[in-house]
Amino acid sequence: MRVLFVASELFPYVKTGGLGDVMAALPRAMRGLGADVRMLVPAYPAIRDAVLIQEVTASFPDLMGGGPARILKAEAPGLPLYLLDQPTFFDRPGNPYGNPEDLARRFAALAWASAHLGRHGDAEGWWPEVLHGHDWPVGLMPAYVAYGDSPRPATVMTIHNIAFQGRFPASLLQELWLPRHAFTPEGVEFHGDIGFLKAGLRLADRISTVSPTYAREIQQSGGHGLEGLLAHRSQDLWGILNGVDREVWNPAKDPSLLSRYDLKHPARRLPNRQGFQTRMGLQADAEAPLFAAISRLDPLKGLDLVLDNVDHLVARGAQLAILGTGDHHAEEAFRQAAQRHPGRVGVFIGYDEALAHRAFAAADVILVPSRQEPCGLTQLYAQAYGALPLVRRTGGLADTVVGVSPATLADDTATGFTFEAANGWALGEAINAALALFQDPLAWRQMQRRGMKAEFGWEGPARTYFDLYRTISKGH
Ligand code: ADP
Ligand code: GLC
Repeated sequence: MRVLFVASELFPYVKTGGLGDVMAALPRAMRGLGADVRMLVPAYPAIRDAVLIQEVTASFPDLMGGGPARILKAEAPGLPLYLLDQPTFFDRPGNPYGNPEDLARRFAALAWASAHLGRHGDAEGWWPEVLHGHDWPVGLMPAYVAYGDSPRPATVMTIHNIAFQGRFPASLLQELWLPRHAFTPEGVEFHGDIGFLKAGLRLADRISTVSPTYAREIQQSGGHGLEGLLAHRSQDLWGILNGVDREVWNPAKDPSLLSRYDLKHPARRLPNRQGFQTRMGLQADAEAPLFAAISRLDPLKGLDLVLDNVDHLVARGAQLAILGTGDHHAEEAFRQAAQRHPGRVGVFIGYDEALAHRAFAAADVILVPSRQEPCGLTQLYAQAYGALPLVRRTGGLADTVVGVSPATLADDTATGFTFEAANGWALGEAINAALALFQDPLAWRQMQRRGMKAEFGWEGPARTYFDLYRTISKGH
């Protein structure tokens, strides 16, 4: 099976969230099962300078008004890559979603380039049977396939987060190399605009998203305006849970940790806690339950519910650590919380991969109070690292955490703490449940062990993606 992934992020080179992690792990897991999966990404400086470039596979005098472009064949460890090298659009450091003046055109160029590879293959005659696009930036990929010439590869669109859709003015139609007849509700039109994700979901042969519960939610009230379309395509929509990349997220061999540990040596986890407390400006308190959140500060992540509980946590003797960046009001509110509670609340505003690993190895509880969460990875990393997740029961969080209750404690299935209503009071109740269980070290350790033993591997999901491809792959 030959598959071309196309996406805007790839860990460790360019990552703003879970998409980057999944793009690094899933294609490699599929290659491990014998499929020829490759990936097309922009030639961001961070990627271009780090991978081995082999040859030019295609050249274009212009793509989407951004000037000359080339597709380069390259190799990252264990993953063949194609890079879209178009300096005007991609030779820039920083956040891949910045520079709004050409946001639509540069990701359209990426989507168009993937359709080109799908139709013509590379210089060596390799061509994909399936084009697999991820999230709104490449939502036009199925449109370029559908409105272009044959041969047409099969197409899949995966929704990692439906809250981000890529809506742009209809006046861009020509600049995006879309034909006039594409601008209909059956094509790329969305409430008078061009909808990138909408186009992908309308025109791809199959759709997937990153958990079974989110697949249901986005057809009901959680679809951010795309519920109707998704309910209509219900038969073609698969919910496939993400996994954990054990090469990157494994406390037994994590180079970021002060002290590596595993199930057999849980005591070796402790030095990580002390080091992290110091780094975060927290008191070196060996007893206090340590709560942490590692998150984009976006309203959908529900960190305002944590803000509502800061004083409560501190009053109950807990410590709180926040690693995050995003919404400026939330950043400021957390900074103020840290000033109000020196030594008890520690805040790092920014993005720091190594510090995130250290947080998972140090915390007792990882908070994930999301209003919506397609899958969520931090509750999985928490479990792998022996921290207990405390999550709102939504999307992938509901699919991956079994909340403490008399029943789940009795049958030894609990792996964390859950709450339902998206308000500070409900989160406070779950915090109380965690604090109560913290008083029972034996029960706590049992839950830790259950989490550390949990699989959440990529092999199962990778096999399910194959099943999905088999329903559409036709060869050409
Ligand atoms: P999302 O993709 O919606 O942001 P996920 O839970 O799927 O949510 O993935 C978040 C990823 O980003 C995880 O790998 C997490 O560790 C990482 N992350 C989030 N915020 C930070 C931060 N401030 N510093 C370092 N890593 C972060
Ligand atoms: C998105 C979602 C997150 C998911 C990640 C990877 O960013 O917000 O829930 O885990 O993609 O699929």
